[in-house]
Amino acid sequence: MKAIVLISGSGSNLQSIIDNSSYIGLNIDCVISNKTDAFGIDRAKNEGINTHIIDNETFSSRQEFEIKLIKVIDKYNPEIIILAGFMRILSPYFTNKYLGKILNIHPSLLPKFKGLNTHKRAIDAKEKQHGVSVHFVTSELDGGPIIAQKPINILPSDNPNSLAKRVLAEEHIIYPKVLRWFAQGRLKLKNNVALLDNKPI
Ligand code: GRF
Repeated sequence: MKAIVLISGSGSNLQSIIDNSSYIGLNIDCVISNKTDAFGIDRAKNEGINTHIIDNETFSSRQEFEIKLIKVIDKYNPEIIILAGFMRILSPYFTNKYLGKILNIHPSLLPKFKGLNTHKRAIDAKEKQHGVSVHFVTSELDGGPIIAQKPINILPSDNPNSLAKRVLAEEHIIYPKVLRWFAQGRLKLKNNVALLDNKPI
């Protein structure tokens, strides 16, 4: 399956997707970053994958940025757009164009803790559990249908960094599994419901 991965930072999820690409059944045609200094771009280059940096700060509006993003994406005609630590909000203009083809990984047990700083917020809220969610991307920020989640216990000794580390380790396991379902044609978005083997998740 032809894939594009969007990143903004370290790209450890990108690396796990690259390392598992045969298992998933993916060919990553291109990695795009909206940040000039994203280490994930180095990772992609090391693997011989095409890269593009589209720095959102050089565009006068979100739509201008997305027009450029779409122009680059459409050159590759991808079957899936994988958000892997992509930290830019995508407008309905973008999400509706690729509806059912965009997946995201989010470091919380959605619908809890949408947005940023999820680990600190989970600790501050005295949650017993935290975790990771993979979901379809729709126009609702971090609010698209959930596909899979993995809870982890918050330890009394945890701080945001230690918690982030354990969540990230789970991210690297769960995302390839879900992407494999998608590549196998088992996972679909229909009428805003995530279906696995034609059954609502
Ligand atoms: C991950 O925790 C991801 O869930 C979140 O940003 C982080 C990106 O990490 N959206 P990496 O760039 O994949 O290392």
